[in-house]
Amino acid sequence: MTDSRGLIRQFISLYGGSPDGVRVFFAPGRVNLIGEHIDYCGGNVLPAALTLGISAAARITRARNIRMGSVNMPGSPTVNLDSPIEFDEARGWGNYPAGVMRMLADRGTALLSCDILFAGDLPDGAGLSSSAAIEVLTAVMMIRLAGYDAKFTPRDIALLSQKAENSFTGVNCGIMDQYASAMGRKDHAILLDTRAVSSEYVPFRFPGYTLVIMNSHKRRGLADSKYNERRAECEAALKSIRSMRRIADLVMATSDEAEAIPDPVLRKRARHAVTEQSRVERAVECLTRGDADGFGWLLNKSHESLRDDYEVTGHELDILTDAARNSNGCAGSRMTGAGFGGCAISLVRTDALDGFRVHTAREYHAATELNAEFYTAAADDGAREITL
Ligand code: GLA
Repeated sequence: MTDSRGLIRQFISLYGGSPDGVRVFFAPGRVNLIGEHIDYCGGNVLPAALTLGISAAARITRARNIRMGSVNMPGSPTVNLDSPIEFDEARGWGNYPAGVMRMLADRGTALLSCDILFAGDLPDGAGLSSSAAIEVLTAVMMIRLAGYDAKFTPRDIALLSQKAENSFTGVNCGIMDQYASAMGRKDHAILLDTRAVSSEYVPFRFPGYTLVIMNSHKRRGLADSKYNERRAECEAALKSIRSMRRIADLVMATSDEAEAIPDPVLRKRARHAVTEQSRVERAVECLTRGDADGFGWLLNKSHESLRDDYEVTGHELDILTDAARNSNGCAGSRMTGAGFGGCAISLVRTDALDGFRVHTAREYHAATELNAEFYTAAADDGAREITL
């Protein structure tokens, strides 16, 4: 998390005035442990909120607009409060917060004029959900500034932020990222039932092991268009199964039903959804009994399924996870998030961490000429105002 006092100083040098009335908010990014690409098929997923995320300093003003700036990104996008908030190409990254402001306005929540300065420590484009973090952060901030806290639960905030991404930014994402950012809990993973949009916390602890996030530094090009394509394929697969049996969601299909889909591509997509759903269930059992090897095995199987049946891993993530598995002390490894580049995770014996990093980085670089980066993941609380 960005240092709040430093952020306030930067805020003052950008907008002037004194620190009085400047408030600071934070929303985390997320890592998904398992349950990939099934949060839009009614599946169960197991993400955790991170200590990394996006912070914002904000102060109410008298103008009829919202001015935004970022320590990490160029530009000073604004939102005019006297006209309807529409998507505007020229606003660039500012469309993520603007989309949430629009959803709040549509729900009859008065938006207060304010100045905002964002600052993040999430690696950009790495698939750790910087977009969900900025959306959830904006929602929490606008709601708290206007004093509407009692009207919105963290679940409402997650749903509203997802809606902003779907309808304003045009990415047809599921609910996982926004939910994890809004609902995270320190040292816990979130077992999220995406059909009911309800969850329970599962302590995340494998004694003697550390969860490592590995950034492939392969940018997630084409991810959005491929993402929407996969989602459409899952809908088509569901339709195909419904001609045999009426089911509500793709993950409710049996393996036999998935294998009976005539179209070979749709059959593979359905196979991934059905097998991933059962891996999540088994992963939770492993977590509960502290079975690191069993959990690691499931990570490997999940990656294989995402590579062969769902086809979202790509060359770099395959090489990186292979390199990780070949390193001493690694219980298992898989891509995390949407795929097509971005990050992977590995569960690694804590006493083997240094060697693991060196070996994995060396093998990965030899095959791709890219430098992998490693972070130790710790599960943390969801979006909140920071008390100064
Ligand atoms: C992205 C989306 C999520 C989820 C993952 C894949 O992160 O935003 O909703 O679908 O991809 O599991």
